[in-house]
Amino acid sequence: MAEALRVGIAGLGTVGASVARVLRDKAAELTRQCGRDILVTAVSARDQKRDRGVDLSSAKWFDDPVKMAQTAEIDVFVELIGGDEGPARSSVKAALETGRHVVTANKALLAKHGVALAEIAEKKGVLLNYEAAVAGGIPVIKTMREAMAGNSVTRVFGILNGTCNYILTRMEAEGISFDACLKDAQRLGYAEADPTFDIEGHDTAHKLSILTSLAFGTRIAANDIYMEGISNITQADIRAAADLGYRIKLLGVAQRTESGIEQRVHPTMVPTASVIAQVHGVTNAVAIETDILGELLLSGPGAGGNATASAVIGDIADIAKSRPGFQHGPVFGRPAKELKPYKKAQMRSHAGGYFIRLTVHDRIGVFAAIAKRMADNDISLESIVQHAVNGEAAAQKTVILVTHETTEAAVRKAVDGITKDGHLTDKPQVIRIERAG
Ligand SMILES: NC(=O)c1ccc[n+]([C@@H]2O[C@H](COP(=O)([O-])OP(=O)(O)OC[C@H]3O[C@@H](n4cnc5c(N)ncnc54)[C@H](OP(=O)(O)O)[C@@H]3O)[C@@H](O)[C@H]2O)c1
Repeated sequence: MAEALRVGIAGLGTVGASVARVLRDKAAELTRQCGRDILVTAVSARDQKRDRGVDLSSAKWFDDPVKMAQTAEIDVFVELIGGDEGPARSSVKAALETGRHVVTANKALLAKHGVALAEIAEKKGVLLNYEAAVAGGIPVIKTMREAMAGNSVTRVFGILNGTCNYILTRMEAEGISFDACLKDAQRLGYAEADPTFDIEGHDTAHKLSILTSLAFGTRIAANDIYMEGISNITQADIRAAADLGYRIKLLGVAQRTESGIEQRVHPTMVPTASVIAQVHGVTNAVAIETDILGELLLSGPGAGGNATASAVIGDIADIAKSRPGFQHGPVFGRPAKELKPYKKAQMRSHAGGYFIRLTVHDRIGVFAAIAKRMADNDISLESIVQHAVNGEAAAQKTVILVTHETTEAAVRKAVDGITKDGHLTDKPQVIRIERAG
C-alpha cells in the first residue's frame, strides 16, 4: 500500500472539527477507496485547550497555522479558519509556496485572492481544491471543473445562501414578516448575530464570483457584482408573486450577454412550477446551462459541519488518489495565467421581465399616468392589476405591473418618472423576473 497521506487541519471550528471527526470515523472506508491511509498529523486553532469533540492527541499542535503550513510533517494543508486576509491567506500562501496541496472552504479568500493563489499552485504543481467554498456539500466545483469539458456555459445561477432561502421560505409558508423570520433564524443558528453579510447578498456574491470564473474562463471579479439583498421583501411582494405564479428567491446569476458578462445578486421571481422554486429552507441549488448539456440542476445541503466536511473530505481523497508526478488540472478549469479579464455587462442593459409594485394615492388619473410612463419608455405590460389597500375605504391603492422583456434602464427611468409625478405614497418595489426551467 502507498504511504499514508498526512493532513494538517488549520481551524477546528464547525467545519474543521467535523472534518477531523469524519476522517476518524470513516478511516477504514477512506483507506479502501483511496488505496492509502489518510492521517491527521497536525492541527492548529487559537485555543489548544478547547474540547473539539474528537481525540486529536496524536496530531502535533501548532499555535501558528503558517508554521504548520510549512512543516515537512504534512502533505496536505486544510484551511478552515475563514476570512479573506490574516492567518487564512498567509497560511494558504505559505503552504502552496512550500509545495503542499491545499484544501479550503474559504469563499471570501478565493473571491479576493483566488487567481493569485491558483498561479502559485500551478507553478508549484500542487492542488488547490475548494469544493466546500461554494454551496457547501453540493459537488458543483467538481462538476464544472471536471465533468463539463467542451461545454460552453451560457448562464449559471443558484440559491447560494441558506439563511436567505430559509427566511424567504418561512415568509411564504407562514405569512410572517422578514424581521420575525430573521429573529427565528438567529435563534436556530441559521443566521449570524450580524446577518448583514448573508441577507444583503455578500456571501452569495463571493460564491457567484467563483462560479463565474469557472463558467466563463474569466478572472474573478467579486467587486463587480450588482447586489441587492432581501431585507426589503415584504409580505405584499410574496403574496403578489404567488398570485402571479411566482416565488421569490435570492439568486446569484452569471450570464453571458452581447455586451459582456452579467454578475448579479438580487431577489428574483422564478415561476412557481420551476425546479429551482421547489428548493426550500436552508437547501442550496445551482443551475448550469450549456450549449451541449442543456440545463443541469444540482441541489443539496449548502452549509453545516457534516455537509461541508463531506466536500472537504472529497477534496482530500482526490489528493490521496492522485499519482506522484501527475500534472494536476488547473484550479479554475484553465491555467490561471490564461483566465481572461472580466468584461462587465452594465446592469442598465440587463434585459428581462420585471415585477413592479406601487402604492399610490387613490385618485383619478393615477392609473393613466403610470401607463403613460411605461409607454413612454417602450415598456410593454403583461399585466396590470390594482386593488385597495386596507379595505375599500382606504385612500391608497396598490398597483402591480408585470412587464414583458425590457431593459433595466427603461424600468428605472419609468419608475423614476412615476415617483416624480407625485402619485406614490410609499417606496416603489421592483423585482426582476428570471427565466427558469
Ligand atoms: N460553517 C459552515 O457551514 C460553512 C459552510 C461552507 C464553508 N464554510 C467556510 O469554512 C471556513 C470555516 O468556517 P467555520 O464555520 O468552521 O468557522 P468557525 O466555526 O468560526 O471556526 C474557525 C476556526 O478557526 C480557528 N482560528 C481562528 N483564528 C485562527 C488563527 N489565527 N490560527 C489558527 N486558527 C484560528 C478558530 O480557533 P478556536 O476554535 O480556537 O477559536 C476556529 O477553530 C470558513 O471559511 C467558512 O466560510 C463554512
